[in-house]
Amino acid sequence: MPEGTLERTLVLVKPDGVKRGLLGTILSRFEHKGLKVVAARLLLIGPELAARHYAEHEGKPFYPSLVQHITSGPALALALEGRSAIAVVRLMTGATNPQTAAPGTIRGDFGLAITANLIHASDSPQSAERELGLYFRAEEYLPYTRSDEGSV
Ligand code: CMP
Repeated sequence: MPEGTLERTLVLVKPDGVKRGLLGTILSRFEHKGLKVVAARLLLIGPELAARHYAEHEGKPFYPSLVQHITSGPALALALEGRSAIAVVRLMTGATNPQTAAPGTIRGDFGLAITANLIHASDSPQSAERELGLYFRAEEYLPYTRSDEGSV
């Protein structure tokens, strides 16, 4: 079984996840999986950052509500590191629409709304690099070794 490439990805716990008190629950799923938190930032996303983050969705019917929601309160930006982290985190996140997201995924277990769908996760290495750059500077990544690192 290939080990997978070591990757870094961006997770945003959206304002609905923060306001519902699900930060710890969501973070612990990733921690228990073995993903390493290498940077974290609780922030208010303003309209400019929202527009940069969601540039690919500009012009779509749901774009205004998407920006409205992501700017409606604090969000938690996380940089997570691990083998195949991008695909693993997407699997754990679940389908965009929580109504059809599989049970066991974050969206499948905790939500019903497509705009307030708790969490955003980068969908490719290109998106991960671009999106991480919106929230973190290079010196903000803190290297360390998890005690379970390297276990098979
Ligand atoms: P996210 O993974 O943050 O990426 C874009 C977001 O747009 C998505 O999660 C949803 O919250 C939101 N959205 C709202 N309506 C739709 C839709 N019809 N299709 C896709 N995304 C939608």
